[in-house]
Amino acid sequence: MATEIRFFELNTGAKIPSVGLGTGPSDPGVVGNAVATAVQLGYRHIDCAQAYRNEKEIGSALKKLFEDGVVQRKDIFITSKLWCNNHEPEDVHKALNGTLQDLQLEYLDLYLIHWPLSMKKGSTGFKPENLSQPDIPSTWRAMEELYDSGKARAIGVSNFSCKKLGDLLEIARIPPAVNQVECHPVWQQAKLRAFCQAKGVHLSGYSPLGSPATLKSNVLKNPVLNTVAQKLGKSTAQVALRWGLQMGHSVLPKSTNESRLEENLDVFDWSIPEDLFAKFSEIEQTKLVKGTELVHETLGAYKNIEELWDGEI
Ligand code: A2P
Repeated sequence: MATEIRFFELNTGAKIPSVGLGTGPSDPGVVGNAVATAVQLGYRHIDCAQAYRNEKEIGSALKKLFEDGVVQRKDIFITSKLWCNNHEPEDVHKALNGTLQDLQLEYLDLYLIHWPLSMKKGSTGFKPENLSQPDIPSTWRAMEELYDSGKARAIGVSNFSCKKLGDLLEIARIPPAVNQVECHPVWQQAKLRAFCQAKGVHLSGYSPLGSPATLKSNVLKNPVLNTVAQKLGKSTAQVALRWGLQMGHSVLPKSTNESRLEENLDVFDWSIPEDLFAKFSEIEQTKLVKGTELVHETLGAYKNIEELWDGEI
């Protein structure tokens, strides 16, 4: 039987499923199956992005799931993200239309500005010469138009520091509903979490397991997590995800493996007791996604990663 997901409420009043499936960078040829399996298991949130270059395959998988009656569109939450080369206001509209076409959807539940930086129109890849000067207020106004049109039922940002989120809140007619950032027990985002909470912005955690394969992190080998997992008879991955839910944020674990997809959803009918939960505050903090390739001494908006994250690193 499919697991029943719990939700958090966004500042739009919409409900975001507390566990979502991350899809980047899941390989083409694999991601469609992962989405289909996940939805059959009970996942009701799929986190996509134009930059992951697999939205067409996800769109075909979703179409089949709808046709087969596994889930209805209204019962699944689909997120996507605006890539950095589409920050010009007219490109924001085109980019969402392209994503909707690829995903074969009429609307998104959430559309995010992927990074607080921009790249030249039409450019591809992370080359420094592609970097340009972002104008977040004008990009955000275009995002607000998408919200007004109903094509994006909520809008938000990703990888925004407290400072950048605060600046956006100052000028926003429609406040961002979500800030999706790296978040796991080894990068807990204490300052950003408090700021988001105070401003009514929901925090969504990507790489909640520390992306063991791609980022080579050892979140899943952390001794505190391992001890808690052993005491509770759960896996370390489940403990990492459950920590996120108990902190009050949604988590977006990636997997293309059926048993791990199932394991990662089995986080609702148990909890980490207070005494063990307190141990997480002892974990040494290390940011894994630094964005080194997104900064340049002379090109773009940020000279170094300190500027990109406004010192929150
Ligand atoms: P796989 O697809 O083979 O399951 P994150 O979500 O933090 O980016 O981590 C994703 C990575 O973690 C993927 O490489 C995925 O591999 C692996 N992974 C996902 N779920 C689990 C789990 N329950 N236990 C161990 N590794 C996992």
